[in-house]
Amino acid sequence: MNEKFIIQPTGPLHGNIEIGGAKNAVLPVLAATILSGQNCTIQNVPNLSDVEYMRCLLESLGAKTDWDKPGGILSIDTGTVTSCKADYEWVGKLRASFLVIGALLGRYKIAKVSLPGGCAIGSRPIDLHLKGLAALGAEVEHSHGYVTVAAKKLTGAKIYLDFPSVGATENIMMAAALADGQTILENCAVEPEIVDLANFLNSSGAEIRGAGTDTIKINGVKELHGTTHSVIPDRIEAGTFMVAAAITRGNILLTNIVADHVKPVIAKLKEAQICVEELENGIRVWHDPTQDIISADIKTLPYPGFPTDMQAQFMSLMAVAKGTSIITETVFENRFMQVGELKRMGADIKIESRSAVIEGIPRFAGAQVHASDLRAGAALTLAALCASDVSEIRGICHIDRGYYKLEQQFNKLGAQINRVCDE
Ligand code: UD1
Repeated sequence: MNEKFIIQPTGPLHGNIEIGGAKNAVLPVLAATILSGQNCTIQNVPNLSDVEYMRCLLESLGAKTDWDKPGGILSIDTGTVTSCKADYEWVGKLRASFLVIGALLGRYKIAKVSLPGGCAIGSRPIDLHLKGLAALGAEVEHSHGYVTVAAKKLTGAKIYLDFPSVGATENIMMAAALADGQTILENCAVEPEIVDLANFLNSSGAEIRGAGTDTIKINGVKELHGTTHSVIPDRIEAGTFMVAAAITRGNILLTNIVADHVKPVIAKLKEAQICVEELENGIRVWHDPTQDIISADIKTLPYPGFPTDMQAQFMSLMAVAKGTSIITETVFENRFMQVGELKRMGADIKIESRSAVIEGIPRFAGAQVHASDLRAGAALTLAALCASDVSEIRGICHIDRGYYKLEQQFNKLGAQINRVCDE
């Protein structure tokens, strides 16, 4: 069923919001449960459609799962896995399901996974994943839209990533956890989600050191065991609510948040003259009515740079800031999908190659718009919250991939968003 948001702007948002578990941390952890073939209990699991797709993919391989959604606890027994083939049905729905390739290869020494293909934000190749797995000794074969990796045994190797890809780092780390000998992964991703995956694997008996730095050392072990792990808070969900406080000129206290993980977003909000205070129980973000929101330039970069997953939301803020700002997207080649829709709401944005030049306007106008992807959907919702009149956002299934009932969360803070059937 297609649904849409009808958003009636209500002015400043106020109140407290508790941030959920990180989508981009839980997905690799769920894939990694394959490695032990035992029962794992994952806590702080967000109730998102992407997590549901990953759970279904694991079940399609033979795993048994039990998800207490209100409690955020997902138990998985991968001892019953009988298939090493991840079908197009799942990989087509959820690109992150390609993360099972490293885990299946590590445990069964063979995996056949549908090629993920491109998506709205770019062509998103997987060459670095496959180069890494090949370096561990896997033979890689492509046929009929699937990639098969197989090895008699995996042997630790020195692997240098040409780009610090998050997914490639995760896949290689998982396969190397059960390889013979030591793997040294250089120029790897340093995102907090990488550290969370390494912590999960180490609590299952893996020997991984250096996660969170650009060199990870993995001493392969013979086997892993089941464990219990609690997923880190979602820094992108947190960033989105910070921008919501700013753009509606409100005041929101965010709890269950790691301040270090949102440093670049805090820095840019402060540059835009938004007030941010780190407290013992969370982070408070508010707008001081005596100050204008002013323009700030942004360049997306791998962590700890400004996250590409916050670029669209920040663009909405800059579209109503005073002055001209330049947002440069360096991580994905096609991630300005929100621009056309923001312009329909009155924004003044020009794209010049990988940069967007934004002239601040006083206010968005309400409009009918379409969310092309998850973060574009978040950006449009933020714009609609502070528009002059009502907006309709279609394509909100994309928003549900990464935010649990976003409308209810915003409504608790004083917004008026209705989710209705979109005929
Ligand atoms: C992850 C996140 C996604 C985020 C992105 C960058 C998950 C589930 N998703 O995606 O939300 O936007 O990190 O922070 O965690 N690349 C190659 N070859 C490869 C792999 C990647 O060229 O083999 C390129 C990509 O096309 C892209 C860049 O590297 O331009 C970054 O991609 P990557 O870090 O791999 O992102 P994902 O893991 O797909």
